[in-house]
Amino acid sequence: MPSPQPPTLRQPRAVQAVRFARGQKRFFEKAAHLGDTFQVNFQRRRWNMITHPDAVKEVFTTSPEVLHAGKGNDILATALGEHSVLILDEAEHLRHRKLLLPSFHGEKLAAQVETIERIAEREVERIPRNEAFAIRDYTQTIALEVILEIVMGTESTGEEHDFLAEQAKGLLEWIGGPYRLIPPGILGPRHRLVKRMYEPKLAPLDEALFRLIAERRQEPDLEEREDMLSMLLTARDEEGNPMSDAEVRDEIVTLVVAGHETSATALAWAFERLAHTEGSTEALHHSVADGDDDYVTSLIQETLRLRPVLDVVVRVVNEPVEIAGYSFEPGEVVVPCIHLVHRREDIYPDALEFRPSRWKDTKPGTYTWIPFGGGVRRCIGASFAMAEMEIVIKAVASAGVLEPVGGDEKVVQKFITSSPARGGELRFA
Ligand code: HEM
Repeated sequence: MPSPQPPTLRQPRAVQAVRFARGQKRFFEKAAHLGDTFQVNFQRRRWNMITHPDAVKEVFTTSPEVLHAGKGNDILATALGEHSVLILDEAEHLRHRKLLLPSFHGEKLAAQVETIERIAEREVERIPRNEAFAIRDYTQTIALEVILEIVMGTESTGEEHDFLAEQAKGLLEWIGGPYRLIPPGILGPRHRLVKRMYEPKLAPLDEALFRLIAERRQEPDLEEREDMLSMLLTARDEEGNPMSDAEVRDEIVTLVVAGHETSATALAWAFERLAHTEGSTEALHHSVADGDDDYVTSLIQETLRLRPVLDVVVRVVNEPVEIAGYSFEPGEVVVPCIHLVHRREDIYPDALEFRPSRWKDTKPGTYTWIPFGGGVRRCIGASFAMAEMEIVIKAVASAGVLEPVGGDEKVVQKFITSSPARGGELRFA
């Protein structure tokens, strides 16, 4: 017989909400003594936290009709739009995911590598020598330029590109500001006051995007173009239907939002941890000099383990389901906790130590290393993000030796990502 409820954190909701807002990682860590599955209560609905890999497997392999990820991401609907693959569930989600997938195939990635290398080298040139800098400023520009060029196919010298870059950056910075997600969290993302609050930031970007979509549709070489926008415009679903302009707009904004902040933050952490971990910088330089990619891969895997960009993935129960021996009813929320799974001593001995060598000859487990979530909702850009990180790390390593400035950096919450507090403060030796 499944037990009715996992153990619950016994504190008033308001207290939990404040503690969550002050630092979600710490909040989850403190509650973890309750067990492998436990409840926290800081929102309208309780979160059932999942921290054991067996239960993570149950969540990720449960039918997408039973567990809805789109509903779990609903708070982002105001910015991303109703047709975003992140917001959709079931048949519509599958339709959009299938239309997006060809843009992320292996052979496309091979072609994208050149673009990423060019942008990374150009930006790394701009990093000052012999003075402190925040590496996040550079990784952010690289990630944004990469995503704009590969997703939208705009030339980095053009006026249109610059305008779109400015608008996208403005929107992302604005959403990343404190408390921006609270109104959609409380009132719901479709409330007119929330829409009114987002409107001034969204309108100029939307106008530019719809103009770009209309222009691109007229391009004589549309069918041959390699950028994701052109691929979406020519893609057809199983019934032979194309995406509408509104659908294309929502997916483009989704790719820019989901693929930019995440990669920039992961890269900033990779350099921050690298510079603060004895022996790592030397190991990286040796491996890059020897043309051996294994160390870079280990470094990325360890960064995404100990400093995952997102702490949780959220699933809303749509049909009664049993997970980890507990019964959940429609409307309840189950939350695989990336942060806590990655800190389990039974999987990762000395889990709090940043140790890239733990990945030597070891492949990440599907349910024990989950920085990209899992199941049918696993991050569509995971291979792209890993390749981008590898290229940027190599470009920086080829430019000089990084030294830490100050002590280990604390984690701050930015938008939905966990960033280094000082942006990864470093210096080229
Ligand atoms: C280090 C970088 C990245 C991290 C850590 C990351 C992480 C994630 C996570 C945790 C999810 C949710 C998975 C789930 O619910 O199980 C996700 C979904 C998604 N990501 Fe990423 N991501 C990264 C980079 C990217 C990039 C570069 C792109 C695109 C260019 C991208 C596009 C998406 C999309 C479209 C989804 C929604 C997939 C769906 O719902 O079917 N991400 N990502």
